[in-house]
Amino acid sequence: MDQLLSTPAIAQGLRKVETRVQRLGGSSALPAINDAAGRIIRAGGKRLRPAMTLATSLALGKTPDRRVVTAAACVELIHAGSLVHDDLMDGATQRRGARTLNAELGDGRALVVGDFMLARAGLAAITAVSRPVAEVLAAAVVELAEGQYLETTDLFNPHRTKESALRSVTGKTAALFRAGCLVAAVCAHASDEDRVRMAAYGERFGLLFQILDDLLDLTASSERLGKPAGNDLRQGVYSLPLLMTGADVSDLLGRDMSDERVEEVLRRLRAGGIVDITLAYCRDLAADAVTALPAIRDQEVATLLRELPDAYIQRVASLAQLTPVG
Ligand code: IPE
Ligand code: IPE
Ligand code: MG
Ligand code: MG
Repeated sequence: MDQLLSTPAIAQGLRKVETRVQRLGGSSALPAINDAAGRIIRAGGKRLRPAMTLATSLALGKTPDRRVVTAAACVELIHAGSLVHDDLMDGATQRRGARTLNAELGDGRALVVGDFMLARAGLAAITAVSRPVAEVLAAAVVELAEGQYLETTDLFNPHRTKESALRSVTGKTAALFRAGCLVAAVCAHASDEDRVRMAAYGERFGLLFQILDDLLDLTASSERLGKPAGNDLRQGVYSLPLLMTGADVSDLLGRDMSDERVEEVLRRLRAGGIVDITLAYCRDLAADAVTALPAIRDQEVATLLRELPDAYIQRVASLAQLTPVG
């Protein structure tokens, strides 16, 4: 991932994306909305999705122009808006090392600031990129909402199925990664086959990205996460790593779990091999992602995209394996 973000052509594109995202986030007639949107945008974030948009453009032989940069900025703005809504739904108080908008301004204002960000991205896509790109992004927001909704229908459900969890993750996270790659392919006027291939790459990467985030929630230390370990368990989100592990923890799950109870679940999951099982699943997704890639002439970009999924897994593996639970 660091490789991707630091490649000169991508780093240079990301600087332009940054200017564009900040301008879009600051384009409301209401200064208070600009302050709130600017707060989450400037708080940090890896900019991984727009980096993948730029990388896809380069992979398909197109130097990112103004339209690709705007499309990438729209992807990041949608992502940031979805985080505002996600934190509101999760009742989270910290995001990107800062207080969340819901904690700072209250739920109502956070709700409409998130709405503003999503809608502003749509408006920029239709006015400054193209109708097909706007369509791809709007469809991703639809899937994102469906994925988030599905998660709520399974909260505290000890019988949640892996299929249901996978469907939720596909919508809430993988859809935007897929769209981030697809918009670049659309801007590059790529062939139908190349569009499908880059979209599949983005989707599979997005899946493993979320599944690893879910794994860390169950295995990394609280210091490492910047939030209490086992947060998903407490919130009733029984994620894929938990469901795949096969350790019986259903007798312990429920509302208002004590710290001891959470610890016991985490201990059983670890003993049941949660880290290895999840990493193996993600390695398969990584292999599928790489298989989906089209032929790429630029060898530097080809290597970047080929190595990204496994490099990301490796990075998370060291966090999940080396740090004891607690
Ligand atoms: C966080 O995404 C939400 C998930 C899909 C897990 P990122 O980890 O990409 O968040 P930022 O943009 O770097 O803050
Ligand atoms: C990711 O879900 C948020 C979105 C895809 C909108 P999570 O709830 O798992 O992400 P974190 O842990 O809050 O970053
Ligand atoms: Mg959350
Ligand atoms: Mg959530």
